[in-house]
Amino acid sequence: MSTTIVILAAGRSTRMHSSIPKVMHLLAERPALGYVLDSAMEIKHKEIILVTAPDMEQIRSYASAECPEIIHVIQDEALGTANAVKYALPHIDDKGNTIILYGDVPFVSVETLKKLNKSDSDVAVAAFYTDNPNQYGRVITFNNDLIDIVEFIDANDEQKILNYCNSGIYSINNAHIHHLIHLIKNKNAKKEYYLTDIVQLAIQRDLVCTSLDIDEKEVLAFNTREELSILEEIVQQKIKSSLMKEGVTILLPQTSYIAHNFKAGKDVTIYPNVYIGKDVTVGDNVHIRSFSHIEGASIDNDVSIGPFARIRPNTEIAKKSKIGNFVEVKNSKIKENTKINHLSYIGDSEVGSETNIGAGTITCNFDGISKKSKTIIGNNVSIGSNSCLVAPIKIDDGAFIAAGSVVTKNADKDDLVFARIKQTNLAQGAIKLRNKE
Ligand code: UD1
Ligand code: MG
Repeated sequence: MSTTIVILAAGRSTRMHSSIPKVMHLLAERPALGYVLDSAMEIKHKEIILVTAPDMEQIRSYASAECPEIIHVIQDEALGTANAVKYALPHIDDKGNTIILYGDVPFVSVETLKKLNKSDSDVAVAAFYTDNPNQYGRVITFNNDLIDIVEFIDANDEQKILNYCNSGIYSINNAHIHHLIHLIKNKNAKKEYYLTDIVQLAIQRDLVCTSLDIDEKEVLAFNTREELSILEEIVQQKIKSSLMKEGVTILLPQTSYIAHNFKAGKDVTIYPNVYIGKDVTVGDNVHIRSFSHIEGASIDNDVSIGPFARIRPNTEIAKKSKIGNFVEVKNSKIKENTKINHLSYIGDSEVGSETNIGAGTITCNFDGISKKSKTIIGNNVSIGSNSCLVAPIKIDDGAFIAAGSVVTKNADKDDLVFARIKQTNLAQGAIKLRNKE
């Protein structure tokens, strides 16, 4: 059977109070729509059609990057879910079926979509039982037969207490979809064209409508930031549980945040209160200690990070190196077995292997006006504590920079560099000073 998938994402997300379209809000640092696209792409399909509003170019370019085959259709005005599907109809022929997905329902499983696909019904609705039916559409049954879906706002008191709800995910027979969608009217409290009306219209025409029971967790939608945070908790649990299954120790997992595409080797330990943003890869036996914040970094085997370290994008740290407390590293490559243990800023730099960067070292990469420059430090270098390396600058292999130096000129191989005021000790000078007062 050939399946067309339609994803609706053109709705105005007024309750998010945001200038970002709802489906671009992030879950584990990935737009919610990304999760829906993943499930859609896993189903054997003819086409995937995404419905967005005219001003939602941000969604369209994201979706095309994730799923180049996607077909975009633009709903001129958000007049309701059935009206949104209408815009996809020119791409749907009368063979096979159409699966409707919502961009704001990110966790729908591939298994559910496969089950919907297999259904012989003309309209199959994925529905769920819940203790918190909130404002979901109520699925009305009689003798276990699906007879209607009523939106919360249009429901009477008897219907409002029902806890069987509409997920918004359907499979519709293409032989009837064109006709049924065109029959839907907007006679309801919101004056919108509700896709849910398709059920009653189909039943009136003796078509077969069924509901498929699915787990509530799969169809959680978000309309507010509070609901988004509930979804985030679920994504986090999934990410951490799969990492732990693969051999990562996470101490007090509920205290850390991990982005969707974190990759870790074996025997990695994540201590409490860690933030791992997107595009982070770590090798085996890496320790990420408490209160560290890492994004866009590739970290090799046997590295220790933190506590209180900040690793910023475009950073590579080679094996056996150590990044200690209050150290920030940005856009830099740190080679093997190098130590940056305390209170340093290393930005736009290359640091060789077996090098020691003393406490309080700063690479002065910014000229204070507009330009950023590079610092290149070789192998086996020792940078004394509290040194400033004013970029662009090169410190060659084996060089030794004395503590407290402000280094503005390159250091050659094995140079011993003093770039600080020479110390003067005045014998008995302290006594003279005190007596003066
Ligand atoms: C919808 C269902 C409700 C169900 C709930 C599940 C209808 C009428 N109601 O309600 O029964 O319980 O989802 O989450 O279908 N959209 C458009 N164009 C529009 C309107 C909406 O593309 O004109 C898109 C939205 O971007 C969203 C989806 O359709 O992705 C659902 O719209 P939303 O406004 O969130 O519907 P709900 O009120 O949640
Ligand atoms: Mg919704």
